Amino acid sequence: MDIREKVQTAAHLLSQANNIIVFTGSGISSESGIPTFRGKDGLWKQFRAQDLATPAAFSSNPKLVWEWYEWRRNIIADKQPNPGHKAIAEWNDLFSSLYVITQNIDGLHQKAGSANIIELHGNIWKLRCTKEGIITEDHSCPLKEIPPKCTKCGALLRPHVVWFGESLDMELLSEAVKLCSETDLMLVIGTSSLVYPAASIPLTAVESGVKVIEINPDSTLLTPRADTSIRGKAGDVLPEISDILNNIIRQTEGREK
Ligand code: OAD
Repeated sequence: MDIREKVQTAAHLLSQANNIIVFTGSGISSESGIPTFRGKDGLWKQFRAQDLATPAAFSSNPKLVWEWYEWRRNIIADKQPNPGHKAIAEWNDLFSSLYVITQNIDGLHQKAGSANIIELHGNIWKLRCTKEGIITEDHSCPLKEIPPKCTKCGALLRPHVVWFGESLDMELLSEAVKLCSETDLMLVIGTSSLVYPAASIPLTAVESGVKVIEINPDSTLLTPRADTSIRGKAGDVLPEISDILNNIIRQTEGREK
């Protein structure tokens, strides 16, 4: 099948689905100007995760870790959702249920207008008190002080993100796994499918008999397991799928009138 046929297949599958899940990784935000992790200019090509994104790094040098997150917050702050995020947000009202399960911490799905978002790896705009666990949202850039402190108890605040060596929020993970076994269709967009347990979510869908469509310029470990793998950029492919889907919906409505 060539790419046009695959895009058409994806739109037809979407037109027949009631419940869908869109599972995303950093690739969907790359066309907004936010670096991925493992690509040519990926963050993990320039920085060592163990120095900046682990509990041990934070306890030995919270200032350094916060300076890195401040740098990332600065990159993300003025970035806007691209046509890929927007296409997904436009699907809000087309399905009985649409969940966006994302590994991204940039908040661009929210900015685009998506609802029902499960952020598996947290959110860079949220800060968590290391003593009481209270989560606050703070979009100030730069932050008032580095490292920031809790205004209630004075303890250090940390980014509300998942670091290497930490567990994901079990409630969120279980909800995501439950949704995958109940959905009709899953789109997996812009992830290398290398990081577990997040990468197990599309596999759970495959094993539950859910049709899985991958959108990624490169092949990944998920590619051989996906029903359809569309080689292209999210910002190109998703609007194309949307156009065809809207045509199908219009034709169906025309026939029903
Ligand atoms: P990666 O950097 O591992 O993978 C990004 C994927 O996006 C690659 O497969 C690219 O081919 C693809 N990609 C690039 N541009 C794209 C585009 N325009 N449209 C569609 N796809 C594109 O990033 P993730 O899979 O998100 O975790 O990484 C998973 C996790 O590893 C992250 O959440 C982060 C990282 O360490 C934590 O920090 C816990």
